[in-house]
Amino acid sequence: MEETFAMLKPDAIERGLVGNIISRIENKGYKIIQMRTSHLTADLIKEHYQHHLGKAFYPKLEAFMMRDQVLFIHLSGPNCIEGMRLLAGATNPNEALPGSIRGDFAFDMTENLIHTSDSPETAQIELRRFALI
Ligand code: CMP
Repeated sequence: MEETFAMLKPDAIERGLVGNIISRIENKGYKIIQMRTSHLTADLIKEHYQHHLGKAFYPKLEAFMMRDQVLFIHLSGPNCIEGMRLLAGATNPNEALPGSIRGDFAFDMTENLIHTSDSPETAQIELRRFALI
């Protein structure tokens, strides 16, 4: 059984989409192991998005991620790492297919509602980073 990490971003909280997104995760059949809301610090955002540090959009991304609470989710299910990325849809919401979270609810490159880990190694790192394991 695979485990992964997901984070609902401030826009999901502000727009009242938390219940809808969690329903999609549960409807798929994944099991929620743990959830917790938190405010991210600039240091944690820097660590999490280190591969984007220095890019033109980084300051906007940092301000967005600190704008409101986020929701950390630790979940499990068969092939859930790839499955969660399909549920989330493409990073660019304009390319995300209808039926995916971003395809149905987002149109902004930064405010794209959800982050999900991209590999088993990253999932373990991110679950540890946000103190879920
Ligand atoms: P995510 O896929 O979770 O990881 C990186 C985040 O940076 C991405 O979601 C967006 O929130 C943001 N991002 C990535 N590319 C861009 C971009 N070109 N312009 C603005 N924000 C971006």
